[in-house]
Amino acid sequence: MALSPKQSLIGVGVLIAAMGGGSLLLRQQLETPSVLKPGDARVVAQGLKVYQAQCAQCHGADLKGEPNWQKRLPDGRLPAPPHDESGHTWHHPGEVLFNITKYGPQHYAGADYASAMPKYEGVLSDDDIIAVLSYIKSTWPPRIKGTHNKIEEDAAAKAAQQRQGG
Ligand code: HEC
Repeated sequence: MALSPKQSLIGVGVLIAAMGGGSLLLRQQLETPSVLKPGDARVVAQGLKVYQAQCAQCHGADLKGEPNWQKRLPDGRLPAPPHDESGHTWHHPGEVLFNITKYGPQHYAGADYASAMPKYEGVLSDDDIIAVLSYIKSTWPPRIKGTHNKIEEDAAAKAAQQRQGG
């Protein structure tokens, strides 16, 4: 049976809709390299190694940061903040934490912002950055993890909306 022109047009429409939906999903996956994996024991174990080697000297082996971390030092820089629930690391979606770790706080605060926080671009691979942030998240109590999951979902929804020009 040959399709009438109308029937085949409907077919093409459905196909285009299906392709459009698929590529949006693909783009979402590609553009969120920072999805943290606090439930993946292998990733968390790798992250702990990275944390001890690269982050603990400032943020503390116990993730408690430096004393008086909210008060700027005489040189205008901030001490290292805690990464446990007393800090504000968990206020930021994974993508923001990823960008701060890879490109430094200057990524958001501007190129001339003076900070002791190093940039890890060229030092740690993207996978190691995701691992260390996954380790940090794995230490948070369930309530904070849940709040952070919600922050991640809201940020992903907002990013998807912006990509659609909304
Ligand atoms: C030499 C000290 C130092 C080291 C090493 C260091 N940091 Fe930091 N980090 C800081 C300081 C200081 C800040 C505060 C940034 C500012 O100036 O606003 C900070 C801030 C951050 C923030 C932002 C927290 C927030 O609540 O906004 C993240 C995330 C972070 N560091 C992750 C890491 C990770 C992950 C590592 C290891 C791979 C690391 N840091 C190693 C000093 C350090």
